[in-house]
Amino acid sequence: MMTTINWNEVLDSIPDNASEAIVNSQFTSVLIEALGFTKNEMLFPQFPTGRGADTVDFAARKNIGTDKFLFSGVDPYLLVEGKGRAIATGAKINLAEGTPKYNATREQIKKYLLSPKCQTAQWGIITNGIHIQLFRRHGKVVIPATACTLINKSNISAIVQYIKSLIDNPPKALTVCIYNNKGGVGKTTTTLNLASILRKQKKNVLVVDFDSQRDLTRTLGLEVGAITLSDCLTDTKANVIQTVVHFIHTDKHGKPYTDKHGKHLHFFDVIPSSEDMEEFTDQRLAESKIQKGAKRLRDILKPFVDKYDYILIDCPTQWLFFSQSSVYASDVVLIPTKHNGLASLHNAARVITQFIPEIKQVRGDGGPIALPIFFNGEKIAATALQTANQEIEKIINQAKKDGFNLLPYYWPKSTTGKDIKTIFSIPSYATVANAAFSHIPAVFLNKIALEHYSGLIKEYFLNE
Ligand SMILES: Nc1ncnc2c1ncn2[C@@H]1O[C@H](COP(=O)(O)OP(=O)(O)OP(=O)(O)O)[C@@H](O)[C@H]1O
Ligand SMILES: [Mg+2]
Repeated sequence: MMTTINWNEVLDSIPDNASEAIVNSQFTSVLIEALGFTKNEMLFPQFPTGRGADTVDFAARKNIGTDKFLFSGVDPYLLVEGKGRAIATGAKINLAEGTPKYNATREQIKKYLLSPKCQTAQWGIITNGIHIQLFRRHGKVVIPATACTLINKSNISAIVQYIKSLIDNPPKALTVCIYNNKGGVGKTTTTLNLASILRKQKKNVLVVDFDSQRDLTRTLGLEVGAITLSDCLTDTKANVIQTVVHFIHTDKHGKPYTDKHGKHLHFFDVIPSSEDMEEFTDQRLAESKIQKGAKRLRDILKPFVDKYDYILIDCPTQWLFFSQSSVYASDVVLIPTKHNGLASLHNAARVITQFIPEIKQVRGDGGPIALPIFFNGEKIAATALQTANQEIEKIINQAKKDGFNLLPYYWPKSTTGKDIKTIFSIPSYATVANAAFSHIPAVFLNKIALEHYSGLIKEYFLNE
């Protein structure tokens, strides 16, 4: 049962210059109780995360049978990093999104969520009793689950209830859109091989071909299901479950692999693109015929977020209906680029500084976010890499003038104060390119391709 809390009293009790200790004991611990954790289901202060001497202010988890979290202190579910309203000198602590303190605290909760003793933690909260934000961890990815919200007496109980509803019903899937505002960079190829390698790691994967060119559907040699994506876009009553078809992997002779009962083994599920989606390349038509326009795909995919571990969306290049819908429906955007294609590097910056913030603004729930870019499909000579890095430096400096820090998205390993210009890359492989003709993703055909895509999921997605 949820305790009734008099939030007016709670908020009135915290002075404007409250220290971290005061905010934590008078606000944050009350918040955690309101989220449904009893006193013996939370550890406070200081839960050791298992990474060096790092500790997070609070950890919480429901008791399981006789195992009381307060005593066993293992397998936390929720971590909370509390801050004060002001420091000892009286200077205010500002946790509003984009401020230095916010950025640092966000990095802090991210680090804690990925620490050895927090592998079971799925949620993280940062708050100083003025601002609050919830984050979700999925594998190695930490994403905002709410916007960073300013607390007041009239919204606090709604915020707490909303956060409670999220943490009580954690979605299973991470939805990933593979996008760059530049063509031919390997969006479709990445989607297919990513799905295959995740499947090899025993993850349940759904791939969505949200491109009317139908490259992905054609590459796998698939036909549409009983209901098409296009039906679902125009008719809100269409049964979305019936759009799903199975990709069945065949051997060299085209014979499907079977299990010991002779049943065809399907490798991942696909929502294919249908030919009649072509008409929605006309933006005006898409907006007039599809209820909720670019927001509709997110609704279509809702029934699947509790079923799959990953939902991967392939979309076309232009920033119009298809791509806007795909980014809107996603938790994260994975951006393939080419080191020798300056346009793809510049376009990646546009995606991060312009398109994603545009969608984020409309969605209002803190997402989506971009993952660091990667180089796809080229052999990279040292001199070419130097040229690419010079260009990236220019892109980063330009964005800085506009108040945007691109460093974590281009050279993520540089952010710890070290100057490390590494960008993950998938080299060019003939088997990767030829896979389109055999209708089988390269990961299933070639050991080297498999190793490279294993590297990709280790770098970006899996925390094991
Ligand atoms: N790692 C790789 N090695 C070799 N060839 C690759 C690699 N990645 C992609 N390709 C090839 O590059 C071409 C473009 O790739 P792909 O179709 O995946 O790009 P895209 O971004 O989806 O293109 P579009 O903008 O048309 O949707 C294809 O012929 C593909 O086979
Ligand atoms: Mg494509």
